[in-house]
Amino acid sequence: MLSNRRILLIIGGGIAAYKSLDLIRRLQDRGARVRCILTDAAQQFVTALAAGTLCGERAYTDLFDAQSEFDVGHIRLARDTDLVVVAPATADLMAKITGGHADDLATAVLLATDKPILIAPAMNPHMWAAKATQRNLAQLKADGFRVAGPNSGEMAERGEAGVGRMAEPTEIVAAAEALLHRAGALTGKRVLVTSGPTSEPIDPVRYIANRSSGKQGHAIAAAAAAAGAEVVLVSGPVTVPDPAGVSVVKVETARQMLEAVEQALPADVAVFAAAVADWRPRQASAGKIKKDGRGPPTLELVENPDILATLAHRKSGRPRLVIGFAAETDDVLAHAKAKLKKKGCDWILANDVSPTTGIMGGDDNTVHLISAAGVEAWPPQSKEGVARMLVGRVATELGKKKR
Ligand code: C5P
Repeated sequence: MLSNRRILLIIGGGIAAYKSLDLIRRLQDRGARVRCILTDAAQQFVTALAAGTLCGERAYTDLFDAQSEFDVGHIRLARDTDLVVVAPATADLMAKITGGHADDLATAVLLATDKPILIAPAMNPHMWAAKATQRNLAQLKADGFRVAGPNSGEMAERGEAGVGRMAEPTEIVAAAEALLHRAGALTGKRVLVTSGPTSEPIDPVRYIANRSSGKQGHAIAAAAAAAGAEVVLVSGPVTVPDPAGVSVVKVETARQMLEAVEQALPADVAVFAAAVADWRPRQASAGKIKKDGRGPPTLELVENPDILATLAHRKSGRPRLVIGFAAETDDVLAHAKAKLKKKGCDWILANDVSPTTGIMGGDDNTVHLISAAGVEAWPPQSKEGVARMLVGRVATELGKKKR
């Protein structure tokens, strides 16, 4: 909930601005008090009257408007809030914020505020992929800005699709809640999650992968963020959207995943939900392997690093709680118990991924939690339900272990 939390919504000038009107409502539904600033460009898409009517107070538009300065002033607008949300954050607005510009009300407030800032980028996929935008994004993240989206999908322009759609209002609300979570169960904790498959190249067009969708790992990252944790999600190639309010590092291979995980340390908790390929081709061919009449090529495989075991066995910097998954098709509990020992982790969530269960790629999961204390059967539920239960158990465990 956002009961009585004050949110300053800065609406940038993009077609996604129409969704920002819905965002005002969604934030209010959660109990927030919303104030709005519209950039000049935003007013080409939505009116200050519409935004102000929804907010129940006039929307602000002009840095040099004597009346606004008299009413509140840009410094008070910047300070009298708990969170600033920029939605949509256009490429131009992101560039201005990165550069510390302050030539209009929106940018002046963003420079003057001492409150957390959440941005929801929205733009054409080519603008999003542009080096300048990615450079600005990296700088904004380094400066402590939180980012929700963008998602991939259809653009407002007909026939255009790709990454660049603004996160949905409900996702932005979830990210805002994660950021503002007062005394959330994991507030102040750093949580590292791996998710999705890895993809191990055979040649430039072929690879070895598996059926992992990333749904369970991503749900865990989202639930930890919603409980107030600072979350780094290291994900292999997936089609599920990035969870809002989470720092996502995208990788392809197991070796890249291990490197990203080590870079993300220190962490209080690490959850290894990724389905890491156990083996990779010894040498990926530089060119596409051709049918040359000499019969099929032989793939020589070598073992990938075990990320979970590597982290669990670290002498220094081991997360306080290391949690693995055991996806098995037979004798699930026996294998999982053996895995707990072999990998050196604290808990294992074991699930049966035989094709008949529909768990791999599906929306539901049935798990057992295995620890030194024994085996606990959890009820069949959605992957989000499993994630919330796990976060609850993690919070209890960290509470116990508190020094
Ligand atoms: O050995 P197995 O793949 O069944 O172990 C599953 C657990 O180990 C999962 O938590 C998975 O994320 C992790 N794992 C890993 N690195 C590997 C293989 C598995 O982190 N190379």
